[in-house]
Amino acid sequence: MEPYTEKVMDHIRNPRNVGEIDDPDGVGEIGNPICGDVMRLYIKVEDNRITDAKFQTFGCGAAIAVSSMLTELVIGKTIEDALRLSNRAVAEALDGLPPVKMHCSALGEDALRAAIRDYMAKQGQQLCVCGELDCPCRPECEERERTRERAHAAAHGIEVEAPEDSPATAGGSTN
Ligand code: FES
Repeated sequence: MEPYTEKVMDHIRNPRNVGEIDDPDGVGEIGNPICGDVMRLYIKVEDNRITDAKFQTFGCGAAIAVSSMLTELVIGKTIEDALRLSNRAVAEALDGLPPVKMHCSALGEDALRAAIRDYMAKQGQQLCVCGELDCPCRPECEERERTRERAHAAAHGIEVEAPEDSPATAGGSTN
């Protein structure tokens, strides 16, 4: 594996914004089903702007560095700008990640989306799974996301629980 950049090593050794926010406005927790790593991100929002972000990540060095850099990048951003922050941009801010570790950066983007979705829900607004605030094709996006998750799980041999009203669960095993 290619070595980590200086910036990645710096964030692994001295991660910024580690911990929990008391009384957060949004919390997002995402797990990587393949490696089992988990990231929890807390955000504080004032006037549509993220004023604080903290994380707890149980995972590899790349996941820690991504979480740390992500919090630095989102603090001060509006919700709309934070939604535009991609895992690629976080990896670039770290001067890159080894290709085999790029999937670790997805944890950060997904946790950020989840935290913003939680914040929006508390405001009575629903963030579409595609990341758009006012998405006109929400059902299609949700179906596309379910298809993507099923394909991802199947590719890795992970069993996914079918929704309760799915025919797949009707009369099925109780194990
Ligand atoms: S190996 Fe699991 S997030 Fe990096």
